[in-house]
Amino acid sequence: MKYYKLSNGLEISQISLGCMRMFNMNSHEVEELVETALNSGINFFDHADIYGGGICEELFGKVLKRRPEWRKQMIIQTKCGICRGYYDLSYEHIMESVNASLERLHTDYIDILLLHRPDALMDNREVGKAFTELYESGKVKAFGVSNMNPSQIEYIKKECRYPIVFNQLQFNVVNAGMIDAGINVNMSNSASINHDSDVLNYCMNNDIKIQPWSVLQASWEKGTYLNHPDYPKLNEKLNELAEKYHVDAATIALAWILRHPAGMQPIVGTTNKEHLISMCKATDIELTRQEWYELYLSVDRRLP
Ligand SMILES: NC(=O)c1ccc[n+]([C@@H]2O[C@H](COP(=O)([O-])OP(=O)(O)OC[C@H]3O[C@@H](n4cnc5c(N)ncnc54)[C@H](OP(=O)(O)O)[C@@H]3O)[C@@H](O)[C@H]2O)c1
Repeated sequence: MKYYKLSNGLEISQISLGCMRMFNMNSHEVEELVETALNSGINFFDHADIYGGGICEELFGKVLKRRPEWRKQMIIQTKCGICRGYYDLSYEHIMESVNASLERLHTDYIDILLLHRPDALMDNREVGKAFTELYESGKVKAFGVSNMNPSQIEYIKKECRYPIVFNQLQFNVVNAGMIDAGINVNMSNSASINHDSDVLNYCMNNDIKIQPWSVLQASWEKGTYLNHPDYPKLNEKLNELAEKYHVDAATIALAWILRHPAGMQPIVGTTNKEHLISMCKATDIELTRQEWYELYLSVDRRLP
C-alpha cells in the first residue's frame, strides 16, 4: 500500500474501503473484511448515515466495540445530507446526523465529515455554524464534500473556517466526463460539454483530494462494466493488461484511476476479501501513458 500526505498532515492510504454494501453481511464478516483491509495497509473507511439505513455504520460500530484497539489505526469518514426523498444540509440535520453516526459507529469522533450531495436549499451560514460546533466539540476533525462543483464548494468556503479536504465524485474509465471535457476544449462535439464546471482542475488547483466512487460500476442499472457485453473493447484491453501485470482486470481498472496526476483516492466497495487483496496491488502498477490512453479510448471515445 502507498499513502498520500494531505496538507493537514493526515496520511491516508491510496485506496479506501467503502462500506455501503456491508448491510448484507453479519458483524463477524465485516470484522474479517476490515481486518483484511488493515492488514493490506488500508487505513481509510468510507461510510454514510444512509448506507443500509444506518445498518452499515451499526455493523462497523459492533466491530469497533469488539476491537477498540483498531480505532486509532483508522481514519473514519462519514457523510450526511441524503434523506428519503430529499436532501437536507440544514444546521439541525447535520448536527443530528453526526450525533447518530457517532453512536452507531461506537466512536467519540469522526475523522472526516462529507456533505453527501448538494442540497438546493443549502445555506452556507448554517453549514459553517454546524462545522464550527462539530470541530470545536471534537466530534469531527476535518470536512469535505461529495458530488459538488467548484462554485458550490466556494459558496461553502465563504462561511467555513476549515479547509475542504475531499470531494467524492463518480469516476472510472467508463464514467470519465471530467477527463473528456478537458481533452476536447473548444470543440463542438458532445465530449467537449463540461458537465461539472471543470471540477477536476479546480480540485487539483485547490488541494482537494478527489475520491472516486463506484470505480467498477457502469451504472446502477448495468452494474459493473467488468465482463459486461456493452464494453467488449474495454474488457479485452483490461484482460490484456491484467495478463501483462499479473493481476486481475479490476486491479487494472483501479490502476487507471491511480495513474492520474491528481493523486485520487479510489473508494472500493467490495465485500469480498480476495477481491480487496487483489485491488490493493493497483498501487504498485504504473500504467504507461499509451496504456492509459488505450483504456480511455476503448470506451467509444476519440481524440480530437
Ligand atoms: N458519494 C457518493 O455519492 C457515493 C455513491 C456510491 C458509492 N459511494 C461510496 O463508494 C463506495 C464504492 O461504491 P461501489 O460499491 O458502487 O463501488 P465498486 O467498487 O465499483 O463496486 C463494488 C461491487 O462490484 C463488485 N465486483 C464485481 N467484480 C469485482 C471484482 N473483480 N473486484 C471487486 N469487486 C467486484 C463487488 O462485488 P463483491 O462484493 O462480490 O466483490 C461489489 O458488489 C461505496 O461503498 C461508498 O462508500 C459514494
